[in-house]
Amino acid sequence: MSDVLQTMLKIGGLWKSFAGFVATRDVSFELKAGEIHAVIGPNGAGKTTFFNLITGHLRPDKGSVAFEGRDLVGLPPQRIVRLGIARSFQRINIYPRLSVFENVQVALIAHEGQQWNLFRPGRSLHREGTRELLELVGLAAEATETAGELSYGKQKQLELAIALASQPRLLLLDEPTAGMSPQETSETIASVRDIVKARGLTLLFTEHDMSVVFGIAERISVLHHGEMIASGAPDAVRNDPEVKRVYLGNNAHG
Ligand SMILES: Nc1ncnc2c1ncn2[C@@H]1O[C@H](COP(=O)(O)OP(=O)(O)OP(=O)(O)O)[C@@H](O)[C@H]1O
Ligand SMILES: [Mg+2]
Repeated sequence: MSDVLQTMLKIGGLWKSFAGFVATRDVSFELKAGEIHAVIGPNGAGKTTFFNLITGHLRPDKGSVAFEGRDLVGLPPQRIVRLGIARSFQRINIYPRLSVFENVQVALIAHEGQQWNLFRPGRSLHREGTRELLELVGLAAEATETAGELSYGKQKQLELAIALASQPRLLLLDEPTAGMSPQETSETIASVRDIVKARGLTLLFTEHDMSVVFGIAERISVLHHGEMIASGAPDAVRNDPEVKRVYLGNNAHG
């Protein structure tokens, strides 16, 4: 069935080195529109680097990154966001002193390119859209709270609302449940899946928790020392001899 899905992201022969250390080694990869796809691999395998190469935060030494047929290499992150790719970061990235509401409102204003002017004070802009997004991620009740004072799990939900403010078609989440309690993890994952499916988004995420990965991913790709050693359906990846040997077989957390 996945064969009828269109390719959304196509990456070919991607390389990235840091001062001689190869962090991304000849990675080729395909992401289909509408799928939930996990990128797994031990600490230092190159997952975040891979995301940074897609989102323009790093420039590949070699290789191609095509999103919906358009070459992204060399475009700055802001352009790539506008083309329809949003991400969250491994480390929390919000305005801690602003309220929850203002964090999302600022993101919407930034995306819509609304002018601040004397006759339309900034705080009146996008109130409806902000409320909708907070509702969507389950933060409506916390709207007036100071963002930096939210629990860790709720800050991650806020980041998700901020990412969604740019109306992406592709969402990249780098360890969306890192640092969460098991309870927060399962709630977050259920909510992310619902949002992705309800909005018809495509999700690419990294995650160390294998119960999360195998719980929601429709396809899984495995990075090991910067190399993509497997990519496919969960069962195929779980039973792949090389994946078992270098990763799942011993310590899944790396
Ligand atoms: N800007 C950088 N300069 C030098 N080395 C880097 C840089 N970014 C990443 N690396 C190195 O590249 C390798 C891959 O790092 P990366 O952060 O992509 O791994 P990761 O799979 O995301 O790991 P984790 O699971 O711990 O988040 C690591 O050895 C890291 O030290
Ligand atoms: Mg990482």
